[in-house]
Amino acid sequence: MTASSSAAGARLTANLGLAERVLAGPRMRKLLAVVEDGLDRVEDTLARELRVSDALADATTRYLYEAGGKRVRPMLTLLTAQLGEGTTENVITGATALEMTHLGSLYHDDVMDGADVRRGVPSAHAVWGNNVAILTGDLMFSRASQLMAQIGERAIRLQADTFERLVLGQMHETVGAQAGEDPVEFYLQVLADKTGSLIAASAQAGILFSDAPSEYRRPALEYGEKVGVAFQLLDDVIDLSDDPAETGKVPGTDLRAGVPTMPYLLLARAADPASRALKATIDDGVARIADGADPAILDEAMQQLRAHAVTAETRARAYEWADAAIAAIDPLPAGPVRDALVKLAHVIVDRSS
Ligand code: IPE
Ligand code: IPE
Ligand code: MG
Ligand code: MG
Repeated sequence: MTASSSAAGARLTANLGLAERVLAGPRMRKLLAVVEDGLDRVEDTLARELRVSDALADATTRYLYEAGGKRVRPMLTLLTAQLGEGTTENVITGATALEMTHLGSLYHDDVMDGADVRRGVPSAHAVWGNNVAILTGDLMFSRASQLMAQIGERAIRLQADTFERLVLGQMHETVGAQAGEDPVEFYLQVLADKTGSLIAASAQAGILFSDAPSEYRRPALEYGEKVGVAFQLLDDVIDLSDDPAETGKVPGTDLRAGVPTMPYLLLARAADPASRALKATIDDGVARIADGADPAILDEAMQQLRAHAVTAETRARAYEWADAAIAAIDPLPAGPVRDALVKLAHVIVDRSS
């Protein structure tokens, strides 16, 4: 066994739970083997591509990659690719490039969100500072483009269009809804852009790079986009989890940093006195934390928000988006791939990390 394949093995142990949950049961055994083999190849390609001759760049680019991750996006690419010619070389290259784009976006996201923990380890900016974390993300985006260029113009366009939307999503989240815009509708567009775009591209990549029938493109794209919104809504619920060992993140990171999430936006819409009081407490806490107060001052409010009906509503909305994603793949041929996509949508909204 080579060093990289043993590293892949170790990492796959962490994400096996997901593949095994999505592809459970005897009918799925063959597809599970195909997806696991593909994930292994993506892992080896990532390990190879995240090696730059520069020692510092090597350490920083490999840092979060080695810390884990669920590999949802490559799994999706590998699944939809089985509707065409299967796990072609281009499918592996495309899946690797999209996971690398995701990875790079995490380096940047943690700087923007002031998040100190990612994948259970101190985030990159907490170790090397903002500049190195930002540049590491940039390096990964360059690498991802280089990989897409190996496939051709269609892949470069997919990468560029997706990345543009992801960045705009992050930017719109940062500046927030403007006067006259509905904050909840605005936020749903942010989710579709910052997260749905990359997940949709992952579903699309499997179709494109396996030369699957072109009529599968639209359903795959729509599924990915909607499942992406469901995924991110659940991420907002997970932000309020009090189990950092499971989530690999500091509980309430977004809430304490004043980063809007769906539970908070729904709370802001509620008119009853208890909800208004909780919102005022959160706003006051966020302002004080920004002025240097201990983030723990919002511990109690975070517990209250978690137990509030708005968090249950966020979860319910995630379920609705997952159902819409499932409806979108109706035109795909019945069989194990479509069944797996249905299961993946369910698993995404039932996850706890
Ligand atoms: C985290 O994505 C960032 C979001 C877009 C919600 P994941 O939850 O897929 O992160 P990893 O790759 O498993 O760490
Ligand atoms: C991350 O969104 C989206 C991107 C990286 C593009 P969040 O900021 O909500 O995700 P987490 O909770 O930090 O993983
Ligand atoms: Mg974040
Ligand atoms: Mg963020």
